[in-house]
Amino acid sequence: MKRSENFCSRKFPEVRLRRLRRTASIRDLFQETRLSVNDLVCPLFVEDGIREAREIESMPGIFRLPLDKLAQSVEDLSGLGIKAFIIFGIPSKKDESARSAYSRIGIVQRSIELLRNQFADKIVLISDVCLCHYTQHGHCGIIEHTHIDNDKTLQALSRIALSHAESGVDFVAPSAMMDGQVCTIRSALDASKFTDVGIIAYSAKISSNLYAPFRHAAKSRPTYGDRKSYQMAYANAEEAMREIDLDIGEGADAIMIKPAIPYLDLIHRAKASTLVPICAFSVSGEYSMIKAGALEGHIDENEAVTEFITCIKRAGADIIITYHARKMAELLLG
Ligand code: PBG
Ligand code: ZN
Repeated sequence: MKRSENFCSRKFPEVRLRRLRRTASIRDLFQETRLSVNDLVCPLFVEDGIREAREIESMPGIFRLPLDKLAQSVEDLSGLGIKAFIIFGIPSKKDESARSAYSRIGIVQRSIELLRNQFADKIVLISDVCLCHYTQHGHCGIIEHTHIDNDKTLQALSRIALSHAESGVDFVAPSAMMDGQVCTIRSALDASKFTDVGIIAYSAKISSNLYAPFRHAAKSRPTYGDRKSYQMAYANAEEAMREIDLDIGEGADAIMIKPAIPYLDLIHRAKASTLVPICAFSVSGEYSMIKAGALEGHIDENEAVTEFITCIKRAGADIIITYHARKMAELLLG
């Protein structure tokens, strides 16, 4: 019996989408979204004062590195074709004003200098610009009395961004979610002749439960309160679009949506409403969930990683920051 008689009143020609799925070669031919290692940005944690690489408990397979092991890691990853890296620093000293965040000899500044000297322009270096890893209280801003002072924080963020620019970074990525951070940093960079240093703005950074493994890794969990007065609520999409519009107006070279998987709708909407490149940050909790599921034997890690990252790209991301970068690069090499 013909399918059309059986299920469907429609007459010929009969549309059969399964023709496009019949063999693996046919499926390859018609695949719409293709990942490339050029889409990927690999996060790196560098910690001041440690001697050996230390695996992060909540992120199996991801390590905090001492400065003298950093170049070897980058060498290995670039051997897999990964060219872009975002650096997170873990300082040995924290204080109220995050001084180690803009110190000339801070851990991120030394990391950027070292990698720039060794790899020149063969790699793209991005730095996270925030205060939370460098303050004792673990908040992303300067605290005045009991609240986070937006405009005092902007001054600190500019100093951090400038210090990263002096070290040779390609892009700074302000992640404090302070109002005006992109505009302030752009002006500071331009005033110091760093017109070539770009800004990848963490525009729609959601106050998410999925940052927990990162805060463990970077020792940046707030000692009191939460980040809800500066990071966005996960229930709000219109507000995310306003954040993105504002950052583009302030001069962002690319905008970021973070986390990625629960926010594919935001990625998709941003893609439809702007021509500015979109970066998706698939965060620590997204990594840890897949990893934990795979270690328990509940899901296939390789398949799940490929599915997640492909779907982030399908939604509209131009570049993807992911802790699975090494695994994904290996899978792409076949
Ligand atoms: C700093 C920062 C955080 C992340 C990136 N930059 C932590 C936070 O906001 O608590 C999270 C990254 C991740 O979870 O992988 N503000
Ligand atoms: Zn922060």
